[in-house]
Order: sequence, then structure tokens, then C-alpha cells
Amino acid sequence: MGKDPHGSMVGTPAMSGPGRASTPRSSPGVRYLLGHTDHELRRLGIQGDLYREVTLRGFREAGVGPGMRVLDIGCGTGDVSRVAAEIVGDSGSVLGIDRGPEAIRMAREISANVGVPNTSFVVSELEAYTSLGDFDALVGRFILMHQEDPAAALSCAAGHVRSGGSVCMIESYMNVLLTGAHSFPRSPLYDEIVRWKGQVVGGAGADLHAGGRLRNTFIAAGLPAPTTQMHARLEGGADSPYFEYIAQSVRSMLPEAARQGLGGFTESDADSLEQRLRSEVMTSDGVLVAWPVVVAHARVP
Ligand SMILES: C[S@@+](CC[C@H](N)C(=O)[O-])C[C@H]1O[C@@H](n2cnc3c(N)ncnc32)[C@H](O)[C@@H]1O
Repeated sequence: MGKDPHGSMVGTPAMSGPGRASTPRSSPGVRYLLGHTDHELRRLGIQGDLYREVTLRGFREAGVGPGMRVLDIGCGTGDVSRVAAEIVGDSGSVLGIDRGPEAIRMAREISANVGVPNTSFVVSELEAYTSLGDFDALVGRFILMHQEDPAAALSCAAGHVRSGGSVCMIESYMNVLLTGAHSFPRSPLYDEIVRWKGQVVGGAGADLHAGGRLRNTFIAAGLPAPTTQMHARLEGGADSPYFEYIAQSVRSMLPEAARQGLGGFTESDADSLEQRLRSEVMTSDGVLVAWPVVVAHARVP
């Protein structure tokens, strides 16, 4: 067990916060299906750019402000932490935690390279992290969908926040794309990718309804009913980063698809996917609906 730069302890089960009953538990039934390969780390970087604006706006609306101490759970390579760091400024600080040592190594490296000294990162399971419970805000993006019991995970994490502090979670709502229109004019290749990704993500035990469920997840975690909204980008044009993002996601999911015995795409498909998708969309002068996200925020009682 060691101390992180905030003086909090890592490596032991977390205490629950005042007034919030929480039974910290790990998520043995849900694998983190994307791994932390170079391709995946690159994908997380593009994801950070695509979801930056909605993340920044969500945190501001949640009440994250200058001088605050913020905890970012499942921080990956630290994009969310750096967005929060921009808001809290030099007088505030952000601590990102993630179970992946490679992601944390890269989070530290990127923050050092781009000059964001008010971020720090520790390797820890969410449930194993302990603190004095005095963070001003809790944030997280695309983390609850990977938890077997998202309400227990959120309750455990909210226990690190002082009374009156903010909780802002951003989760994808994949099922909206699976059941609705996701391109205009219709892109057959994107159809195929959306269906395949849904199968792989759902088959790994991740929640395709995490965004839709987020309001109830807050309530089940002992938090007030949150303010919620959904947001989806429409991506088109030759220079959209979304084509690469989609191709990298398919590549990152290939090992999980193989584990599940799913056919569909291969490594060589993944090599050409970015270009094929871009030309299909450009030929029809079309747009793709990017994965929708739900932003939810509330104050800790
Ligand atoms: C989809 S990534 C999102 C990364 C980052 N929040 C972002 O939006 O760029 C999910 C991250 O959560 C981490 N993770 C999932 N479950 C976790 C847990 N129980 N404890 C710690 N980290 C976890 C994974 O290792 C992964 O890096």
C-alpha cells in the first residue's frame, strides 16, 4: 500500500462515504474489453478530442470550478483529468485512478509533455482506492458501463467527495445507435460496424444501456436524481477523426471478438477500414452519428 500525491492510500478496500452505504466490490463478470495496446491508447487520445467539448461543458454545468480537488475514476490515458484540470486551474488539482499500469504511465507522460502539472495519476482498482473523503468533485467517463454493479461502484467513488461536492458521470448510450438511424444517407459499412461493436461490447458484459440507465444508477448509489442530457456528434468530411477512431476501436476489439467466437472483421479489414469508411461517407456526402453520450450530474448530500 502506498500514498498518492494527494495523501490518499491506494491498495486497500475503500471506506464508504458519510451516509452512503456502499459495499465495494470488484467486477469479476465484466472484462475491460479493449486492453491497453498502442492502438487502443491512440484510440483513447482521439476519443478525448471527440468528446472534449461535451465533457468540458458537462463538468462546468456540474459545478466543477477553479481551485477544486477532483477525482477522475477510470481515467485511462488522462484526457478527462486534463479537461478537469483546465477548469480547476493552477490552484486546483486532479487525481486520476485506473487499474491499467500502461494507461497510467501514458497519462503521466502526456500530462508532462503537454504541461498539465496539476494532474497526478495512480494505478488502482476503483474499489481499492481510499481517501479522506474530501474531494470537491468526482468525475468519470465511460467507466460505469464496464462495472458489474455500477451503482455500487458509483456509491463507493462518491464516498471520496465531501458533502455538497459535485458528481458528474458521462456514459455512452450504445443502444441508441443499435436501434436507431446512425448515418445519413445510410452507410452500409457503418451499419455493419455498429452491429458488430454492439455484439462485442455486449458479449463482454459491458452495458449497452449505461447512458439510459445513468439516472437510476445515481439514485441507486444514494445520490439525488441527477440532471441528465444526451449528446451525439454528427461526423462527416474527409478530415474527420471519427473514421480513424472507428477503425481503431474495431482493431482494439478483435481479441475480444475472437474470444467470443465472433466472425466479422479481421486485422487486415481493420487496416483498410478507416479509408473504406471515409470514402463511403464522402461518396454520398454523408454524415455518421457518433456514439451518443449521456451526461449526468448531482450534488453529494
Ligand atoms: C473506456 S476507458 C475510458 C478512459 C477515460 N475515462 C476516457 O474517457 O478517456 C475505461 C477505463 O476504465 C478503467 N477501469 C474499468 N474498470 C475499472 C475499475 N473497476 N477500477 C479501475 N479502473 C477501471 C479501464 O482500465 C480503462 O482504462
